[in-house]
Amino acid sequence: MAILKIARMGHPVLSRTADMVADPTAPDILRLIADMVDTLADAGGVGLAAPQVHVPKRVVIFHVPESRAREETNGDEDESEDEPEAVPMTVLINPEIEPLDDETSSGVEACLSLPGMMGLVPRYKRIRYKAVTPSGSIIEHEASGFHARVVQHECEHLDGILYPMRMDDLSTFGFSEEMGRNELPLGERMRAEKETADDD
Ligand code: NI
Repeated sequence: MAILKIARMGHPVLSRTADMVADPTAPDILRLIADMVDTLADAGGVGLAAPQVHVPKRVVIFHVPESRAREETNGDEDESEDEPEAVPMTVLINPEIEPLDDETSSGVEACLSLPGMMGLVPRYKRIRYKAVTPSGSIIEHEASGFHARVVQHECEHLDGILYPMRMDDLSTFGFSEEMGRNELPLGERMRAEKETADDD
């Protein structure tokens, strides 16, 4: 196991379409996953895609801590029926995503390939995803809120898409250190500002 170097935005490995994994149970894939788990734990974050560690294969890992799970359900009345959902470390190999409807919501994202930056990104609220696990079985899940956001963010790394490419308002993109200088939590403030802007 090892801590791997993380590619930053601009490195070609982050722009290409990653290759399908032929054998999800192969020893080199299991080693890659173990190294990705170590790397994510070291870097601190909720998810990591293989291209971010310079391996152009369709593998992502993610988890949703309880504190983050609540983020996108709080104060959002039409989602009150959705229980905040913590998700343990999960490995998705050759994942496929489909939105369950057209509804989107904007939330704050950051990425280990854009250290120190953050921005407000619209994502589908509800998705279904399907993937192979390292034991070779199929997992299929429906996800909403932050869980759905993380899966969309990580899986898009496999198609060379980084979150700024999904942003619809670049005025919400910047250095976290600068944007965090406010009494309100950043996500709340940015959402409020965006709603005000959208009303105009
Ligand atoms: Ni990322």
